[in-house]
Amino acid sequence: MSAYFEESKSIEVVNARMGADVPERLATVMRALVAHLHAFVKDVELTEEEWGKAIEFLTATGQICSGERQEFILLSDVLGVSMLVDAIQNRKPKGATPSTVFGPFHVEGAPERPMGFDISLDGKGERCLFEGRILDIDGNPIEGAVMDVWSDNAEGFYDVQQPDIQPKWNNRGVFKTGPDGRYWFYGIKPVSYPIPDDGPVGQMLGHIGRHPFRPAHTHFRVVAEGYKPLITHTFVAGDPYLEGDTVFGVKSDLIVDFIQEDAGERTGEWTALFDFVLV
Ligand code: BEZ
Ligand code: FE
Repeated sequence: MSAYFEESKSIEVVNARMGADVPERLATVMRALVAHLHAFVKDVELTEEEWGKAIEFLTATGQICSGERQEFILLSDVLGVSMLVDAIQNRKPKGATPSTVFGPFHVEGAPERPMGFDISLDGKGERCLFEGRILDIDGNPIEGAVMDVWSDNAEGFYDVQQPDIQPKWNNRGVFKTGPDGRYWFYGIKPVSYPIPDDGPVGQMLGHIGRHPFRPAHTHFRVVAEGYKPLITHTFVAGDPYLEGDTVFGVKSDLIVDFIQEDAGERTGEWTALFDFVLV
């Protein structure tokens, strides 16, 4: 085969340049990347102007990234790539709690709280008791499981998006289970919110007729020795964005009926019951 570039042999010509000592996995990924990228360009017969726009878009995506903002993750999320990687890497047996997208708003080092603590520190929103068990696949309680919880506030913002407005660690906390595997804490019934849409990814969504909203959810990371870490959410049943989640994170097993108490001292408050099953 000639080493010169030609349209019909473009993939082979580029991949033939790879060195002999490239680690196997890197070689596999790069060969496939070149093959799919060239196939895409051929498929749509990309124009020079369109290619220029793509470069401009990727440049803007990089330029808006900072310590607090990761626009490339957002791009991966809205294109369904984050959920696809998650699906491939976290295939689960029946009965195990499904995982979903991690998102950009987790903060390492949230304070550990006793069971029953109220993580809503700004006093806003509809109070909700989150309660359930951490179980293994056979239904046995897991002792010493560490549950890291994070959620938006009643106005749809995470504390890290409003450091001058919300108290630090608002709607975040870490809880450790005892021998019965139970957890319970107070927070708020979460609300739906738009992902940050004031950058290139938001513009792209606008150009292709998509909204930036996520249905109301609470994030959980559950880690226990001897089990696969679980990164997931629970979603509020009935939310109008469940089927339109802009990052495709919803799975039916993660949708929870939030029950509003209509008697006793918790009248008006909500309860969300959910068991997490680890593999
Ligand atoms: C989130 O749920 O926090 C989130 C997930 C993906 C993109 C933006 C936000
Ligand atoms: Fe979120």
